[in-house]
Amino acid sequence: MTDLLIVDDNGDIRRQLKWGLSKAPYALHFATHVEEALQVFQAVTPGVVTLDLGLPPHPEDASQGLACLEQMIAARPSTKVIVITGFDGQENARRAVELGAYDFFRKPLDLGELKVMINRAFHLLEIERVAPAETPKKPAAPRLRHGIVGDCPAMRDVYAMIDKVAASDAPVLVHGESGTGKELVAMAIHQASPRRQQPLVSINCGAIPENLLESEFFGHERGAFTGATNTVKGKVEYAENGTLFLDEIGELPVNLQVKLLRFLQDMRFQRVGGRKTLEVNVRVLAATNVNIQEAMRLGQFREDLYYRIGVVGIHLPPLRDRGEDVVLLANHFLEIHGKQLPKKIQGFSPEAMEAIRNYPWPGNVRELENKVRRAIILVEGSRITPQSLGLAGEASSPGPARAETTLREARTQLERQMMLQALRRFEGNIVKASEALGVSRPTFYDLLRKHEIDPKALSAG
Ligand SMILES: Nc1ncnc2c1ncn2[C@@H]1O[C@H](COP(=O)(O)OP(=O)(O)OP(=O)(O)O)[C@@H](O)[C@H]1O
Ligand SMILES: [Mg+2]
Repeated sequence: MTDLLIVDDNGDIRRQLKWGLSKAPYALHFATHVEEALQVFQAVTPGVVTLDLGLPPHPEDASQGLACLEQMIAARPSTKVIVITGFDGQENARRAVELGAYDFFRKPLDLGELKVMINRAFHLLEIERVAPAETPKKPAAPRLRHGIVGDCPAMRDVYAMIDKVAASDAPVLVHGESGTGKELVAMAIHQASPRRQQPLVSINCGAIPENLLESEFFGHERGAFTGATNTVKGKVEYAENGTLFLDEIGELPVNLQVKLLRFLQDMRFQRVGGRKTLEVNVRVLAATNVNIQEAMRLGQFREDLYYRIGVVGIHLPPLRDRGEDVVLLANHFLEIHGKQLPKKIQGFSPEAMEAIRNYPWPGNVRELENKVRRAIILVEGSRITPQSLGLAGEASSPGPARAETTLREARTQLERQMMLQALRRFEGNIVKASEALGVSRPTFYDLLRKHEIDPKALSAG
C-alpha cells in the first residue's frame, strides 16, 4: 500500500526520481525491465507504479510497457499505474488508460508535477481502502478496528493482541480456520507497527512447489540451476526493514523448515548457488490453518521452529463462534460490494438474516463475503433473500439442534473445507485439486455445484 514501484530502463531517470522522492513517505522500489517489474510487483505489492512504456528489449515502442501494465492490472486492479510516454505518446497513453492505467505522464519529466500525481494516487488509494464506497454517511462505527469488522469478546481480544505485539519485533503466529481473516490480521500488525512505511512481503508456503521454495525465500544466483538466467533476489531481501509474512507455514516442507530456522537465528542467508552471506532486518509473521501442535506430534513440523515463531500466538475464532458479528460482517460486505453496482439494494430480508445467523459458515468470513457478493449479483428485488445467498432451507432450521452437529452435516462441512483448501492450494486449478482429493473431475464439478463454490474466486491472491 505504501510502496512505490518505478519501472524505467533509463538510469538517469531512475537516479533523478530516487533523489527527488527520497523524502517521500513511501518506500521506493525500482525495476528496469518487465520481468523484474512483475517480480517486484508480486513481492512488494506496491500501491502506485510509474511505468515507462518503452522498455527493453523493445524500447522504441510501447509493446513491453503495455504488456506489463496489462499483467499488473489483471493481478491487482486497484493498483494505480501511471504510465510515462515518449514525445509522440498520445495514442499509447490512450491505449494505456483503456487498459486500466490510472493516468499518464509525458516526457520530459517534470519532477514536481509527477510528485503531485503520485501523491494524488496514494491519496486516492487510501480513501478507497478506508471507505471503499463514496458515501460516508454512516460514521464508521467502533466495530471497525485495524480495518477488521467485529465486536464480539474474542475479536476484542484479537485487537488487544494486535496492539500489544505491533510495537515489538517479536514473531507472531496467527492461527485459525480457513477464511477467518489471518492474512488481514497480519496486515493489521504490520500497519500498526513502526515498520508500516516499509514493505510487507508475503510468501505462501503452501502454494509454491517445493523445489522453487528455497529460491523464493532466499533468491538465487545466475546459473544456480537450469533456467536461472539472472540473479534473482529472494523475498527476504525484498522485505528488508519491513515484515515478512509466511502464510500457510504449516505446509512448509521439513527441509525448508531447517533452512528457515537457521535464517531466523541470525537473519543471515545465502542465495541458492551463492557463496556470499547476506544479512537482512525483517520482522516475521506467520499464519496457519493446520493445528501445529498436532503436526509436531506427527513429526511434520519441527519443534525448534515452532519455538522460534509460535511463542506469541493470535487465535482467530471461527465465524460461527462470533455471535452477532456475522450480522455486522454481512452488512459490511453488502456495503462495500453493493456500491460497485448500479442497482440499489436496501438490505437483507428478515429470512435472509435468519439464515445467515443459522448457517454454520464452514468457510468462515471468506465464505460469507463470497455468498453476499454472489447474492448482490443474483438478487432480483431490492432485498437479499435466502435463495440469492444459496441458503434457502437454513432460515427455518430448528435452533437447538444446531448445537450438536449431525454426522451428515459434519461430513458435508469437512467435504467443503477440503475442497476449498485444495482449490486454494492449487490456485483454482481443478485438475490438480481433484487429483489431490482423489476424485474424478466430473465428481469434483458436481461437488463444486453442491457446495456452490466458485473456483475462480479462489484462484486470485
Ligand atoms: N473480521 C473481518 N472483517 C472484515 N473482513 C474480513 C474479516 N475477516 C476476514 N475478512 C475478509 O475475508 C476474506 C478472507 O480473509 P483472509 O484472507 O484474511 O483469511 P485467512 O484466514 O487468511 O484464510 P485462509 O486460511 O483461507 O488463507 C478477505 O477478503 C478478508 O478481507
Ligand atoms: Mg490466508
